[in-house]
Amino acid sequence: MMQNGQPWLDTTGQPIHAHGGCILKYQDWYYWYGEDRRADYYVSCYRSQDLMHWEFRNHILTTTSPFKAERFQATAGLVNSDGTKVNIERPKVLYNPKTERFVLWAHFENGRDYREAAVLVASAATPDGDFTEHGHFRPFGNMSRDCTVFVDADQAYFISAARGNADIHIYQLSSDYLNVTRLVNRLWSNEFREAPVLFKHDGLYYMLTSGTSGWRPNQGKYAVASAIAGSWSDLQDFGDATTFDSQPAFVLKNGNQVIYVGDRWGGAKHYQDSSYVFLPLEITSQQVILKHKARWFIAAHNFVFKD
Ligand code: DGJ
Repeated sequence: MMQNGQPWLDTTGQPIHAHGGCILKYQDWYYWYGEDRRADYYVSCYRSQDLMHWEFRNHILTTTSPFKAERFQATAGLVNSDGTKVNIERPKVLYNPKTERFVLWAHFENGRDYREAAVLVASAATPDGDFTEHGHFRPFGNMSRDCTVFVDADQAYFISAARGNADIHIYQLSSDYLNVTRLVNRLWSNEFREAPVLFKHDGLYYMLTSGTSGWRPNQGKYAVASAIAGSWSDLQDFGDATTFDSQPAFVLKNGNQVIYVGDRWGGAKHYQDSSYVFLPLEITSQQVILKHKARWFIAAHNFVFKD
């Protein structure tokens, strides 16, 4: 029995460090990627076949990750000139079947403040190999903070909080997933949303977001659209005023279950105490309801939620 907000241990008994992350299914494995702010690490990767037992695989992005320039010009470096760490948040990994590479997009900051507002791109030949950094930049010059990715058929998208977090931007990605090609939409001007999560259910697109209150949880909201380019509905509440003490990280589709995964942040001082919240999402007549279950239990390939 795993419990929301409690440490989730890997197969060696160590707490899983995969905050603000994502789960990617590739061949027979689920790969769980997320922030790992310990030592010289940035992003760590675990894998599982039953979503219950997670084997630590690798610190896929660290202060010593190799750099390789790509066709876009970007600032290189995962350490500041004074040797301090930068800040890599909300890493998301996509598999590109054309290039057969795993491509990571994340939010890049300098580790001192949030003024860089840039995206970091990295890639690797295997899901849990050492990723090569390709640098960070602002998509079409736009500020870009909390972010997510989404693949719909052949087309991949990058979604991020822009203009000082006032708006959410949706960008199309190039066919190699290494750059943005088009700003598809700007959403919810001046509504200040963070932590975007995009998923598809019964032919419709849903986006979850949080409000902006630093590490403190706030009211989650969702919107629905029949196409990614829009138009998107107005924002509506899901969960309670603190999204059951969590902030959206990603959504996991497991058979016909739609599972919300959020971060319960420890905050700046107690970041290492951050934990995970897994809750079922119920979607009926385009209404998204986050079911509050205090505990959850995972059996092989099936999430069973308990009150
Ligand atoms: C809210 C964001 O969603 C988190 O990823 C993190 O950047 C915190 N703000 C920092 O205050």
